[in-house]
Amino acid sequence: MKPETSPQESAPPVRPAIVAVDLARRFGTLEAVRDVSMSVAQGEIFGLVGPDGAGKTTVMRMLAGVLRPDAGTIALEGIDVVGEPERAKAVLSYMPQRFGLYEDLTVDENIFFYGELFELPKAQFRERRTELLEAAGLAPFRRRLAGQLSGGMKQKLGLVCALIHTPRILLLDEPTTGVDPVSRRDFWAILYRLREQGVTIVMSTAYMDEAERCSRLALLHEGRVRCCDTPQRLKDIVRGSLLSVTGGDPRANAAALAEAPGVAGVLLMGDRVHVRVDDAARRKDELTARLDGQGLPHARVEPVEPGIEDVFVALVGAPA
Ligand SMILES: Nc1ncnc2c1ncn2[C@@H]1O[C@H](COP(=O)(O)OP(=O)(O)OP(=O)(O)O)[C@@H](O)[C@H]1O
Ligand SMILES: [Mg+2]
Repeated sequence: MKPETSPQESAPPVRPAIVAVDLARRFGTLEAVRDVSMSVAQGEIFGLVGPDGAGKTTVMRMLAGVLRPDAGTIALEGIDVVGEPERAKAVLSYMPQRFGLYEDLTVDENIFFYGELFELPKAQFRERRTELLEAAGLAPFRRRLAGQLSGGMKQKLGLVCALIHTPRILLLDEPTTGVDPVSRRDFWAILYRLREQGVTIVMSTAYMDEAERCSRLALLHEGRVRCCDTPQRLKDIVRGSLLSVTGGDPRANAAALAEAPGVAGVLLMGDRVHVRVDDAARRKDELTARLDGQGLPHARVEPVEPGIEDVFVALVGAPA
């Protein structure tokens, strides 16, 4: 019989492009990051997910060699980032959360600036610029001042600048925050193409749908990695234990179910409520009856596929 794993899954692991071990960093008395370890294979799109202040930027800055860890080691393509940050800069590109564009320069001039920074040969620079501007949908705006671009366009220009020198490792800190869905699609098309070319990508994101597109995710909370796996396997943690309640007043529904037997937690998700229970199949009718009994007959209770947010809440609790 054929093995059930796909060829990709059964292939021997490739040498990790990024290996970080036991990273720690304090700011005064605040432990911003502790015991963070990660191993990222070449060609992965690895996601760092966590609430504000979880430590995403601090981890990114350490990986990029711009912030020295208090403890721990980082190897990028075998280069010791802590010991030799300058050497590491040749293989990586880092797009900070607030990327340094020159607002009073045009799109073209900004790209030229970053090309110069990396001393690219002219022909290679032009070819790369054309390709990236096309992919980002920025070709018609080459002469517009960066300061006059929309928020999403600025983010895309940041990515173009970060990619002008073809890095082996790309570190993106919340690159699509404030970017509209269409531009985010352009963004992801570029990331997928880079992955095919063997570029390793670490990105932090606040968007859960975006987290789902990553090959693996590290869920970061209060400076620690709480869980790290593929989105699919992370969702297995809560699969079969989730009910969605729709219809009626979501707040009233949530309040009516929070203390019900078998309920581990409720999470308001816009006009729905996700209810984490011990056994979804068993509790569905029970909770429907409870809502009915409390004068909330319009609510519908149905099993639902978990999202990454559900996993996060199950692991670390609901956001305050
Ligand atoms: N330079 C600094 N000086 C003092 N404290 C800092 C500094 N940088 C970060 N911190 C603190 O370290 C913690 C982690 O911050 P970090 O910026 O890494 O979080 P984050 O996950 O990137 O958050 P966000 O989603 O808001 O960008 C926070 O409590 C933050 O206030
Ligand atoms: Mg940040």
